[in-house]
Amino acid sequence: MDKAIFDKRRRDLMQQMGGGLALIPTAPVRNRNRDVNFPFRPDSDFYYLTHFPEPEACAVLVPGRAHGEFILFCRERNPEKEIWDGRRAGLDGARELYGADDAFPIDDIDEILPGLLENREKVFCSMGRHPDFDAKLMEWVNEVRAKSRNGVSAPGEFVDLNHLLHEMRLFKRPEEIRLMKRAAKVSTQAHRRAMQTCRPGLMEYEIEAELLHEFKKGGSQSPAYPPIVGGGANSCILHYTENNTELKAGDMLLIDAGAEIDGYAADITRSFPVSGKFSAEQRAVYEVVLAAQHAAIERVKSGNHWNEPHEAAVRILVDGLMQLKLLNGSTDQLLETGAYKRFYMHRTGHWLGLDVHDVGDYKLHDTWRLLEPGMVLTVEPGLYIAAGDPAIPPGFWNTGIRIEDDVLVTRDGNEVLSRDAPKTVDDIEALMKG
Ligand code: GLY
Ligand code: MN
Ligand code: MN
Repeated sequence: MDKAIFDKRRRDLMQQMGGGLALIPTAPVRNRNRDVNFPFRPDSDFYYLTHFPEPEACAVLVPGRAHGEFILFCRERNPEKEIWDGRRAGLDGARELYGADDAFPIDDIDEILPGLLENREKVFCSMGRHPDFDAKLMEWVNEVRAKSRNGVSAPGEFVDLNHLLHEMRLFKRPEEIRLMKRAAKVSTQAHRRAMQTCRPGLMEYEIEAELLHEFKKGGSQSPAYPPIVGGGANSCILHYTENNTELKAGDMLLIDAGAEIDGYAADITRSFPVSGKFSAEQRAVYEVVLAAQHAAIERVKSGNHWNEPHEAAVRILVDGLMQLKLLNGSTDQLLETGAYKRFYMHRTGHWLGLDVHDVGDYKLHDTWRLLEPGMVLTVEPGLYIAAGDPAIPPGFWNTGIRIEDDVLVTRDGNEVLSRDAPKTVDDIEALMKG
Protein backbone atom coordinates (compact mmCIF):
# COMPACT_ATOMS: atom_id res chain seq x y z
CA MET A 1 0.00 0.00 0.00
CA ASP A 2 1.06 3.55 -0.69
CA LYS A 3 3.00 4.92 2.27
CA ALA A 4 1.16 8.25 2.01
CA ILE A 5 -1.91 6.42 3.38
CA PHE A 6 -0.12 5.61 6.61
CA ASP A 7 1.35 9.09 6.80
CA LYS A 8 -2.18 10.49 6.65
CA ARG A 9 -3.38 8.12 9.39
CA ARG A 10 -0.54 9.23 11.65
CA ARG A 11 -1.20 12.89 10.96
CA ASP A 12 -4.93 12.45 11.64
CA LEU A 13 -4.12 10.81 14.96
CA MET A 14 -1.54 13.44 15.95
CA GLN A 15 -3.98 16.22 15.17
CA GLN A 16 -6.39 14.75 17.71
CA MET A 17 -3.69 14.23 20.35
CA GLY A 18 -3.11 17.93 20.82
CA GLY A 19 0.51 17.61 21.93
CA GLY A 20 1.92 14.83 24.01
CA LEU A 21 3.56 11.74 22.61
CA ALA A 22 2.19 8.37 21.54
CA LEU A 23 3.92 5.04 21.99
CA ILE A 24 2.74 2.10 19.90
CA PRO A 25 4.77 -1.12 20.24
CA THR A 26 4.17 -4.02 17.92
CA ALA A 27 3.23 -7.46 19.27
CA PRO A 28 5.86 -9.55 21.02
CA VAL A 29 7.20 -12.72 19.45
CA ARG A 30 5.61 -15.64 21.30
CA ASN A 31 7.36 -18.93 21.87
CA ARG A 32 5.47 -22.06 20.88
CA ASN A 33 7.89 -24.70 22.10
CA ARG A 34 11.65 -24.65 22.58
CA ASP A 35 13.21 -23.14 19.45
CA VAL A 36 9.90 -22.69 17.62
CA ASN A 37 7.91 -19.48 17.78
CA PHE A 38 4.29 -18.89 16.79
CA PRO A 39 4.07 -17.21 13.38
CA PHE A 40 4.58 -13.51 14.03
CA ARG A 41 1.65 -11.21 13.48
CA PRO A 42 2.09 -7.45 14.08
CA ASP A 43 -0.08 -5.64 16.59
CA SER A 44 -3.12 -4.28 14.72
CA ASP A 45 -2.82 -0.70 16.03
CA PHE A 46 0.87 -0.62 15.16
CA TYR A 47 0.27 -2.08 11.71
CA TYR A 48 -2.59 0.33 11.03
CA LEU A 49 -0.24 3.26 11.64
CA THR A 50 2.98 1.95 10.10
CA HIS A 51 2.43 -1.06 7.79
CA PHE A 52 5.72 -2.28 9.28
CA PRO A 53 5.64 -6.09 9.33
CA GLU A 54 8.69 -7.00 11.42
CA PRO A 55 8.81 -7.96 15.09
CA GLU A 56 10.74 -5.99 17.72
CA ALA A 57 9.57 -2.55 16.71
CA CYS A 58 7.94 0.44 18.34
CA ALA A 59 6.45 3.55 16.77
CA VAL A 60 6.66 6.89 18.55
CA LEU A 61 4.56 9.83 17.39
CA VAL A 62 5.68 13.22 18.61
CA PRO A 63 3.50 15.99 17.18
CA GLY A 64 5.48 19.15 16.57
CA ARG A 65 8.94 17.58 17.02
CA ALA A 66 11.34 19.60 14.88
CA HIS A 67 13.46 16.60 13.87
CA GLY A 68 10.46 14.65 12.67
CA GLU A 69 7.22 13.49 14.18
CA PHE A 70 7.30 9.76 13.32
CA ILE A 71 10.09 7.80 14.96
CA LEU A 72 10.46 4.09 14.36
CA PHE A 73 12.54 1.85 16.59
CA CYS A 74 13.36 -1.38 14.76
CA ARG A 75 16.02 -4.02 14.25
CA GLU A 76 19.19 -2.99 12.46
CA ARG A 77 20.37 -4.72 9.32
CA ASN A 78 22.51 -7.72 10.20
CA PRO A 79 23.75 -9.82 7.25
CA GLU A 80 24.56 -12.80 9.44
CA LYS A 81 21.23 -12.89 11.24
CA GLU A 82 19.38 -12.22 8.00
CA ILE A 83 20.81 -15.45 6.59
CA TRP A 84 19.08 -17.30 9.44
CA ASP A 85 15.90 -15.35 10.07
CA GLY A 86 15.12 -13.41 6.91
CA ARG A 87 15.45 -9.89 5.59
CA ARG A 88 15.17 -6.78 7.71
CA ALA A 89 14.27 -3.29 6.56
CA GLY A 90 16.84 -1.79 8.90
CA LEU A 91 17.04 1.89 9.79
CA ASP A 92 17.35 3.06 6.18
CA GLY A 93 14.41 0.87 5.17
CA ALA A 94 12.34 2.26 8.04
CA ARG A 95 12.85 5.73 6.59
CA GLU A 96 12.73 4.97 2.88
CA LEU A 97 10.09 2.23 2.74
CA TYR A 98 7.93 3.10 5.73
CA GLY A 99 8.20 6.86 5.88
CA ALA A 100 9.84 7.20 9.29
CA ASP A 101 11.30 10.67 9.87
CA ASP A 102 13.84 9.16 12.20
CA ALA A 103 14.77 5.54 12.89
CA PHE A 104 16.74 4.08 15.80
CA PRO A 105 17.87 0.58 16.74
CA ILE A 106 15.35 -1.15 18.99
CA ASP A 107 18.29 -2.18 21.18
CA ASP A 108 18.85 1.51 22.00
CA ILE A 109 15.29 2.27 23.04
CA ASP A 110 16.16 2.37 26.78
CA GLU A 111 18.72 5.09 26.15
CA ILE A 112 16.69 7.18 23.72
CA LEU A 113 13.11 7.02 24.93
CA PRO A 114 13.54 8.88 28.26
CA GLY A 115 14.91 11.84 26.30
CA LEU A 116 11.82 11.89 24.10
CA LEU A 117 9.60 11.91 27.19
CA GLU A 118 11.29 14.95 28.70
CA ASN A 119 9.00 17.96 29.05
CA ARG A 120 6.07 16.16 27.43
CA GLU A 121 2.92 16.48 29.50
CA LYS A 122 0.94 13.58 28.11
CA VAL A 123 1.73 10.06 27.01
CA PHE A 124 -0.79 8.23 24.84
CA CYS A 125 -0.53 4.44 24.93
CA SER A 126 -2.66 1.30 25.15
CA MET A 127 -2.01 0.34 28.72
CA GLY A 128 -2.60 -3.24 29.73
CA ARG A 129 -2.15 -4.85 26.33
CA HIS A 130 1.58 -5.48 26.45
CA PRO A 131 2.41 -5.63 30.19
CA ASP A 132 6.18 -5.93 29.62
CA PHE A 133 6.09 -2.74 27.59
CA ASP A 134 4.03 -0.96 30.28
CA ALA A 135 6.68 -1.84 32.85
CA LYS A 136 9.39 -0.44 30.57
CA LEU A 137 7.45 2.77 30.13
CA MET A 138 7.33 3.26 33.90
CA GLU A 139 11.09 2.76 34.08
CA TRP A 140 11.62 5.41 31.40
CA VAL A 141 9.27 7.82 33.15
CA ASN A 142 11.09 7.28 36.45
CA GLU A 143 14.36 8.11 34.74
CA VAL A 144 12.93 11.43 33.59
CA ARG A 145 11.52 12.11 37.05
CA ALA A 146 14.98 11.61 38.53
CA LYS A 147 16.13 14.60 36.50
CA SER A 148 13.55 16.98 37.91
CA ARG A 149 16.17 18.97 39.84
CA ASN A 150 17.75 19.85 36.49
CA GLY A 151 14.50 21.51 35.52
CA VAL A 152 13.27 18.63 33.37
CA SER A 153 9.61 17.72 33.76
CA ALA A 154 8.20 14.23 33.38
CA PRO A 155 4.84 13.37 31.85
CA GLY A 156 2.03 13.58 34.38
CA GLU A 157 -0.82 12.33 32.25
CA PHE A 158 -1.22 8.88 30.77
CA VAL A 159 -4.04 8.68 28.28
CA ASP A 160 -5.56 5.58 26.74
CA LEU A 161 -4.71 5.73 23.04
CA ASN A 162 -7.59 3.40 22.22
CA HIS A 163 -10.27 6.10 22.35
CA LEU A 164 -8.77 8.03 19.46
CA LEU A 165 -7.18 5.25 17.46
CA HIS A 166 -10.00 2.72 17.65
CA GLU A 167 -12.54 5.28 16.58
CA MET A 168 -10.38 5.85 13.49
CA ARG A 169 -10.08 2.12 12.83
CA LEU A 170 -13.87 1.68 13.07
CA PHE A 171 -14.39 3.68 9.87
CA LYS A 172 -12.87 1.81 6.95
CA ARG A 173 -11.29 3.87 4.19
CA PRO A 174 -11.46 2.77 0.52
CA GLU A 175 -8.03 1.13 0.63
CA GLU A 176 -9.14 -0.93 3.65
CA ILE A 177 -12.42 -1.89 2.02
CA ARG A 178 -10.49 -3.14 -1.00
CA LEU A 179 -8.49 -5.47 1.24
CA MET A 180 -11.60 -6.63 3.09
CA LYS A 181 -13.25 -7.42 -0.25
CA ARG A 182 -10.23 -9.48 -1.21
CA ALA A 183 -10.33 -11.32 2.13
CA ALA A 184 -14.03 -12.00 1.60
CA LYS A 185 -13.47 -13.20 -1.96
CA VAL A 186 -10.73 -15.64 -1.04
CA SER A 187 -12.85 -16.89 1.85
CA THR A 188 -16.04 -17.36 -0.16
CA GLN A 189 -14.05 -19.36 -2.70
CA ALA A 190 -12.86 -21.53 0.16
CA HIS A 191 -16.41 -22.07 1.40
CA ARG A 192 -17.53 -23.02 -2.09
CA ARG A 193 -14.67 -25.46 -2.39
CA ALA A 194 -15.61 -27.01 0.97
CA MET A 195 -19.20 -27.50 -0.19
CA GLN A 196 -18.05 -29.06 -3.43
CA THR A 197 -15.63 -31.41 -1.74
CA CYS A 198 -17.73 -32.50 1.20
CA ARG A 199 -19.07 -36.06 1.34
CA PRO A 200 -19.73 -38.64 4.05
CA GLY A 201 -16.62 -40.47 5.25
CA LEU A 202 -14.23 -37.53 4.99
CA MET A 203 -12.66 -36.20 8.18
CA GLU A 204 -13.38 -32.65 9.32
CA TYR A 205 -9.67 -31.83 8.90
CA GLU A 206 -9.81 -32.85 5.26
CA ILE A 207 -12.38 -30.11 4.71
CA GLU A 208 -10.19 -27.74 6.73
CA ALA A 209 -7.34 -28.59 4.33
CA GLU A 210 -9.52 -27.54 1.38
CA LEU A 211 -10.21 -24.21 3.08
CA LEU A 212 -6.54 -23.58 3.84
CA HIS A 213 -5.59 -24.49 0.29
CA GLU A 214 -7.89 -21.79 -1.11
CA PHE A 215 -6.72 -19.27 1.49
CA LYS A 216 -3.05 -19.71 0.63
CA LYS A 217 -3.70 -19.87 -3.08
CA GLY A 218 -5.56 -16.56 -2.78
CA GLY A 219 -2.57 -14.85 -1.18
CA SER A 220 -3.71 -14.99 2.43
CA GLN A 221 -0.83 -15.05 4.90
CA SER A 222 -2.91 -16.77 7.56
CA PRO A 223 -6.46 -17.65 8.49
CA ALA A 224 -7.94 -14.74 10.43
CA TYR A 225 -8.75 -17.22 13.25
CA PRO A 226 -8.61 -21.01 13.61
CA PRO A 227 -11.21 -22.49 11.24
CA ILE A 228 -14.21 -24.18 12.82
CA VAL A 229 -15.22 -27.31 10.91
CA GLY A 230 -17.82 -29.13 12.98
CA GLY A 231 -20.05 -31.95 11.81
CA GLY A 232 -23.08 -33.34 13.65
CA ALA A 233 -22.79 -32.85 17.43
CA ASN A 234 -19.71 -30.68 16.85
CA SER A 235 -21.82 -28.15 14.93
CA CYS A 236 -23.37 -27.24 18.30
CA ILE A 237 -20.01 -26.30 19.89
CA LEU A 238 -19.62 -22.62 19.12
CA HIS A 239 -15.82 -22.45 19.05
CA TYR A 240 -15.07 -26.05 18.09
CA THR A 241 -11.61 -26.28 16.49
CA GLU A 242 -10.43 -29.87 16.99
CA ASN A 243 -11.73 -30.68 13.49
CA ASN A 244 -10.85 -34.36 13.92
CA THR A 245 -14.12 -36.26 13.54
CA GLU A 246 -15.46 -38.24 10.60
CA LEU A 247 -18.32 -36.61 8.70
CA LYS A 248 -21.46 -38.72 8.56
CA ALA A 249 -24.34 -38.87 6.11
CA GLY A 250 -27.41 -37.25 7.63
CA ASP A 251 -25.40 -34.76 9.71
CA MET A 252 -25.06 -31.01 9.28
CA LEU A 253 -21.62 -29.44 8.89
CA LEU A 254 -20.92 -25.96 10.22
CA ILE A 255 -17.87 -24.14 8.83
CA ASP A 256 -16.77 -20.82 10.28
CA ALA A 257 -13.63 -19.76 8.45
CA GLY A 258 -12.12 -16.57 7.07
CA ALA A 259 -8.83 -15.57 5.52
CA GLU A 260 -6.66 -12.63 6.48
CA ILE A 261 -5.34 -10.40 3.68
CA ASP A 262 -2.64 -7.89 4.61
CA GLY A 263 -3.99 -7.92 8.16
CA TYR A 264 -7.69 -7.62 7.33
CA ALA A 265 -10.08 -10.41 8.29
CA ALA A 266 -13.03 -12.11 6.69
CA ASP A 267 -15.34 -13.98 9.08
CA ILE A 268 -17.81 -16.22 7.26
CA THR A 269 -19.97 -19.14 8.37
CA ARG A 270 -21.93 -21.55 6.24
CA SER A 271 -23.85 -24.61 7.40
CA PHE A 272 -24.86 -27.40 5.06
CA PRO A 273 -25.70 -31.11 5.05
CA VAL A 274 -22.74 -33.48 4.76
CA SER A 275 -24.55 -35.49 2.09
CA GLY A 276 -25.62 -32.43 0.10
CA LYS A 277 -29.35 -32.79 0.82
CA PHE A 278 -31.17 -31.19 3.78
CA SER A 279 -33.54 -33.38 5.84
CA ALA A 280 -36.97 -31.90 6.52
CA GLU A 281 -35.97 -30.91 10.06
CA GLN A 282 -32.60 -29.49 9.04
CA ARG A 283 -34.24 -27.50 6.30
CA ALA A 284 -36.91 -26.15 8.65
CA VAL A 285 -34.31 -24.92 11.15
CA TYR A 286 -32.11 -23.59 8.34
CA GLU A 287 -34.92 -21.51 6.84
CA VAL A 288 -35.56 -19.88 10.21
CA VAL A 289 -31.91 -18.89 10.60
CA LEU A 290 -31.76 -17.64 7.01
CA ALA A 291 -34.89 -15.54 7.47
CA ALA A 292 -33.41 -14.10 10.67
CA GLN A 293 -30.21 -13.27 8.82
CA HIS A 294 -32.08 -11.58 5.96
CA ALA A 295 -34.06 -9.48 8.42
CA ALA A 296 -30.90 -8.52 10.29
CA ILE A 297 -28.98 -7.57 7.14
CA GLU A 298 -31.90 -5.41 6.06
CA ARG A 299 -31.48 -3.43 9.29
CA VAL A 300 -27.82 -2.74 8.54
CA LYS A 301 -28.05 0.79 7.28
CA SER A 302 -26.80 4.20 8.15
CA GLY A 303 -28.85 5.77 10.94
CA ASN A 304 -30.04 2.50 12.49
CA HIS A 305 -28.54 1.71 15.86
CA TRP A 306 -26.08 -1.11 16.50
CA ASN A 307 -28.56 -3.45 18.13
CA GLU A 308 -31.33 -3.24 15.51
CA PRO A 309 -30.03 -6.16 13.41
CA HIS A 310 -29.75 -8.30 16.56
CA GLU A 311 -33.25 -7.41 17.70
CA ALA A 312 -34.69 -8.24 14.28
CA ALA A 313 -32.86 -11.56 14.15
CA VAL A 314 -33.86 -12.67 17.64
CA ARG A 315 -37.52 -11.94 17.01
CA ILE A 316 -37.55 -14.15 13.92
CA LEU A 317 -35.57 -16.90 15.63
CA VAL A 318 -38.05 -16.92 18.53
CA ASP A 319 -41.07 -17.03 16.20
CA GLY A 320 -39.40 -19.84 14.26
CA LEU A 321 -38.64 -21.84 17.41
CA MET A 322 -42.31 -21.58 18.35
CA GLN A 323 -43.42 -22.73 14.91
CA LEU A 324 -41.06 -25.68 15.17
CA LYS A 325 -42.59 -26.36 18.60
CA LEU A 326 -39.20 -26.14 20.24
CA LEU A 327 -40.44 -23.29 22.42
CA ASN A 328 -43.88 -22.49 23.80
CA GLY A 329 -45.30 -19.16 24.86
CA SER A 330 -45.61 -15.74 23.29
CA THR A 331 -42.87 -13.94 21.36
CA ASP A 332 -42.69 -11.08 23.84
CA GLN A 333 -42.59 -13.35 26.85
CA LEU A 334 -39.86 -15.54 25.34
CA LEU A 335 -37.84 -12.46 24.43
CA GLU A 336 -38.23 -11.13 27.94
CA THR A 337 -37.27 -14.31 29.78
CA GLY A 338 -34.48 -15.11 27.32
CA ALA A 339 -35.70 -18.72 27.07
CA TYR A 340 -34.47 -18.74 23.45
CA LYS A 341 -30.86 -18.49 24.68
CA ARG A 342 -30.85 -22.24 25.10
CA PHE A 343 -30.77 -22.41 21.28
CA TYR A 344 -29.21 -19.02 20.48
CA MET A 345 -26.60 -18.10 23.06
CA HIS A 346 -24.51 -15.50 21.22
CA ARG A 347 -25.10 -12.10 19.73
CA THR A 348 -25.76 -11.39 16.07
CA GLY A 349 -22.49 -9.70 15.17
CA HIS A 350 -19.41 -7.65 15.89
CA TRP A 351 -17.20 -5.09 14.17
CA LEU A 352 -14.79 -6.57 11.64
CA GLY A 353 -11.46 -5.23 10.38
CA LEU A 354 -7.82 -5.76 11.26
CA ASP A 355 -9.09 -7.80 14.20
CA VAL A 356 -11.81 -10.38 13.73
CA HIS A 357 -13.62 -8.96 16.72
CA ASP A 358 -12.56 -5.50 15.71
CA VAL A 359 -12.14 -2.42 17.85
CA GLY A 360 -14.67 0.38 18.20
CA ASP A 361 -17.32 1.21 20.78
CA TYR A 362 -20.76 -0.34 20.46
CA LYS A 363 -22.35 2.20 22.77
CA LEU A 364 -21.83 5.93 23.10
CA HIS A 365 -22.94 7.54 26.35
CA ASP A 366 -24.79 4.38 27.35
CA THR A 367 -26.89 4.08 24.19
CA TRP A 368 -26.30 1.90 21.13
CA ARG A 369 -24.34 3.87 18.57
CA LEU A 370 -25.76 4.57 15.12
CA LEU A 371 -24.40 2.79 12.08
CA GLU A 372 -22.51 4.99 9.64
CA PRO A 373 -21.01 4.46 6.17
CA GLY A 374 -17.59 2.79 6.31
CA MET A 375 -18.35 0.54 9.27
CA VAL A 376 -18.03 -3.20 8.66
CA LEU A 377 -19.78 -5.75 10.83
CA THR A 378 -20.73 -9.40 10.78
CA VAL A 379 -24.32 -10.64 10.78
CA GLU A 380 -24.35 -14.15 12.18
CA PRO A 381 -27.52 -15.53 13.71
CA GLY A 382 -27.69 -19.24 14.47
CA LEU A 383 -29.62 -22.00 16.18
CA TYR A 384 -27.97 -24.88 17.98
CA ILE A 385 -30.04 -27.91 18.95
CA ALA A 386 -27.96 -30.39 20.92
CA ALA A 387 -28.92 -34.04 21.40
CA GLY A 388 -30.53 -35.61 24.40
CA ASP A 389 -33.68 -33.74 25.33
CA PRO A 390 -36.56 -36.26 25.02
CA ALA A 391 -38.98 -33.36 24.58
CA ILE A 392 -37.29 -32.51 21.27
CA PRO A 393 -37.92 -34.89 18.32
CA PRO A 394 -34.60 -36.67 17.53
CA GLY A 395 -34.75 -35.44 13.94
CA PHE A 396 -33.68 -32.03 15.27
CA TRP A 397 -30.82 -33.28 17.41
CA ASN A 398 -27.23 -32.27 16.68
CA THR A 399 -28.33 -29.53 14.34
CA GLY A 400 -26.06 -26.52 14.64
CA ILE A 401 -26.68 -23.81 12.07
CA ARG A 402 -25.04 -20.42 11.80
CA ILE A 403 -25.05 -18.18 8.74
CA GLU A 404 -22.49 -15.41 8.92
CA ASP A 405 -21.78 -12.66 6.41
CA ASP A 406 -19.54 -9.59 6.41
CA VAL A 407 -21.49 -6.42 5.76
CA LEU A 408 -20.27 -2.93 4.88
CA VAL A 409 -22.50 0.02 5.76
CA THR A 410 -22.78 2.22 2.66
CA ARG A 411 -24.34 5.61 2.02
CA ASP A 412 -27.60 4.10 0.81
CA GLY A 413 -27.80 0.77 2.63
CA ASN A 414 -25.21 -1.96 2.79
CA GLU A 415 -23.02 -4.24 0.76
CA VAL A 416 -22.61 -7.90 1.71
CA LEU A 417 -18.92 -8.52 1.05
CA SER A 418 -19.29 -12.30 1.40
CA ARG A 419 -22.30 -12.68 -0.88
CA ASP A 420 -20.57 -15.16 -3.19
CA ALA A 421 -20.82 -17.97 -0.65
CA PRO A 422 -24.13 -19.76 -1.40
CA LYS A 423 -26.66 -19.72 1.39
CA THR A 424 -30.14 -20.57 0.13
CA VAL A 425 -31.10 -24.23 0.43
CA ASP A 426 -31.48 -24.46 -3.36
CA ASP A 427 -28.12 -22.84 -4.09
CA ILE A 428 -26.29 -25.03 -1.59
CA GLU A 429 -27.91 -28.22 -2.83
CA ALA A 430 -27.22 -27.27 -6.44
CA LEU A 431 -23.54 -26.53 -5.79
CA MET A 432 -23.06 -29.74 -3.81
CA LYS A 433 -24.76 -31.80 -6.48
CA GLY A 434 -22.64 -30.31 -9.24
N1 GLY B 1 -15.31 -16.62 14.10
C1 GLY B 1 -15.63 -15.96 15.30
C2 GLY B 1 -16.91 -15.27 15.22
O1 GLY B 1 -17.72 -15.61 14.39
O2 GLY B 1 -17.17 -14.34 15.92
MN1 MN C 1 -17.24 -16.47 12.53
MN1 MN D 1 -18.08 -13.51 13.73
